[in-house]
Amino acid sequence: MFIWGSMRALDGEQTGSPHALVRFLEQCVEAGCTGVDLADIYNQGRSEILIGEAFARSRELADRLPLIAKAGVVFATPEAALPAHHYRNDAAHLRSALDGSLRRLGVEQVETFLVHRPDYLMRFDETARALEEMVQAGKVQKLGVSNFSVSQLNGLQGALAAPLGHHQLEFSVLETRALEDGRLDAAITAGHRVTAWSPLAGGRLFSQSDKAAARVREALGELAGESDPDGLAGAALAWIARHPAGPVPILGGTDIERIERQCAALKATVFTPESWYAVLEASRGQPVP
Ligand SMILES: NC(=O)c1ccc[n+]([C@@H]2O[C@H](COP(=O)([O-])OP(=O)(O)OC[C@H]3O[C@@H](n4cnc5c(N)ncnc54)[C@H](OP(=O)(O)O)[C@@H]3O)[C@@H](O)[C@H]2O)c1
Repeated sequence: MFIWGSMRALDGEQTGSPHALVRFLEQCVEAGCTGVDLADIYNQGRSEILIGEAFARSRELADRLPLIAKAGVVFATPEAALPAHHYRNDAAHLRSALDGSLRRLGVEQVETFLVHRPDYLMRFDETARALEEMVQAGKVQKLGVSNFSVSQLNGLQGALAAPLGHHQLEFSVLETRALEDGRLDAAITAGHRVTAWSPLAGGRLFSQSDKAAARVREALGELAGESDPDGLAGAALAWIARHPAGPVPILGGTDIERIERQCAALKATVFTPESWYAVLEASRGQPVP
């Protein structure tokens, strides 16, 4: 099971046009895809337009692939006095960002809306009211967050009548901080759905110059009994899924044959506690204490 992420959609031959994307997503569904991850900033809204155009061509696809929308990150505006990338979780921004996403997608509702990143200037009450309004207006079914710390998540949840049911965070064999900073534990306790972004470390897993990636590939290769990149990728996805929070990988690849091979390897790879820790050790370059 995986979510497909649309951040790189415009880059791929199989994903860069509405016609090609319909075929690609149909094959993703057959391979076990259960949703599409979006954000208003991906390709400055053009990923959403592309998904909307693909769904307009195939209602069946739209029915089978729930949408996860995100907002709260804003790129620097060159004309500003002090341009800077920044985060905005205030009500006015989240409201207008969601309306923009719905318009570009050509839909009246998305399944899930996530606050993309925590805004250090966020007022929990104000953000909570904006999120509740989205649900009450029928624009969103479910709410969640992405990249929040446990305390930020608890602060927002404390101000919200509706439950936050989803945490999207970075988690992979090469990015393991969520194991120790409490986010995965908190998700288990709260019963949150966890989705893992950049589950192949954004392609870094395949880097020839990255020492940690080389150690992890060697360890995964021992286990998977192969060194082909997709077998290793599938084993890396199985390593994520082995955590009791049940993180679902958000695959960002744009090549369906690769994704199919990776999903087959994911299903075929079983980690014992010892082999799971061996991969963690390879990632960190040292054994656990
Ligand atoms: N919430 C957040 O803050 C946040 C942040 C970042 C991303 N995301 C979400 O997470 C999704 C996935 O992120 P991601 O794209 O970084 O994920 P990823 O799946 O870790 O990385 C995808 C990259 O790996 C490459 N790749 C896959 N298999 C390969 C292989 N066998 N050999 C060489 N390269 C290979 C892909 O290339 P090909 O395209 O050529 O297959 C693609 O460039 C995004 O689309 C987005 O929806 C969320």
